[in-house]
Amino acid sequence: MDIVGLGYMGLTSAHVDDWRTYAPEVLGLQVRPTEGETLFLRMDDRHHRIALHPGAQERLAYIGWELLNRVAWDECLRILQAAGYTAEIADEALCAERAVHAMAWVTGPDQVRHEFCYGAAFNTHTFLPGRPHNGFLTGDGGFGHIVVTVPEWTEELDHFVEQVLSFKWFGSGADIGKRRFYRPRRNHRTHSIGYSIVPGMLGLNHVGLEVNDLDDVGIAYDRVLERGYPLMATLGRHTQDPVISFYHFSPSGFPIEYINAGIEDSAAHPFVEGKPESLSVWGHKFNPDAPTPATVYPATESVGR
Ligand SMILES: [Fe+2]
Repeated sequence: MDIVGLGYMGLTSAHVDDWRTYAPEVLGLQVRPTEGETLFLRMDDRHHRIALHPGAQERLAYIGWELLNRVAWDECLRILQAAGYTAEIADEALCAERAVHAMAWVTGPDQVRHEFCYGAAFNTHTFLPGRPHNGFLTGDGGFGHIVVTVPEWTEELDHFVEQVLSFKWFGSGADIGKRRFYRPRRNHRTHSIGYSIVPGMLGLNHVGLEVNDLDDVGIAYDRVLERGYPLMATLGRHTQDPVISFYHFSPSGFPIEYINAGIEDSAAHPFVEGKPESLSVWGHKFNPDAPTPATVYPATESVGR
């Protein structure tokens, strides 16, 4: 399957109103003016990259994978069917809400609703960050990354990720056997999705947003501390994926990793599929009082999707 990158994501939240100030003022995202209940957040000239839907629980609602064009999307549907996944095709109203030409979805063995789309709406020279900001790294690599918690790494999930989605393994960081990071094959990022393996648990572990300027990481760090959003980990530089980042809890109770200085070509990077002995070169001191992400729940809990 020829996925270009991470196109968009959706969350449900009981705290959507808190995001209306947090997203622009702390993260620098643009709040898209809309009359509906869903809050659309922009990182670039796309219609949106993150959608927050009002809901009773803090949950990852869907991940939107972007295919290059109609031909690649048709091929994607054939691959899903051949692998035994029955894709549901989005109607016109849902495609309009996602702001894409066409979309289909399946629920993966990770219990995540994976959406596959092409033809995302955009409007050039319209992105206006929510605060003075030098922009987000998006472009042809998609935006950032999403890390999903799963109770175990099964053969079915391995097949779905590596054979059906055709993702390329990047590594496990310093947590061999506990984490797995992947990227679409044509993508230059180190990872667009990661899996955190926690027995008995499912859900959203964290979301990574990548910005162009290290100073924007520093400014976000200041605002997180000033406004009292709990830290999950201090500023630091990772070892295998040598970004500078910090982790804090969003108003929805899941961590956001705010990132700068990612490597430009992951395929040529010497640490690809390497085995680092530490999580970070410096920093990333974990907050011992950090709560469990509100988006992670017991795998036995049935969730309506
Ligand atoms: Fe991350």
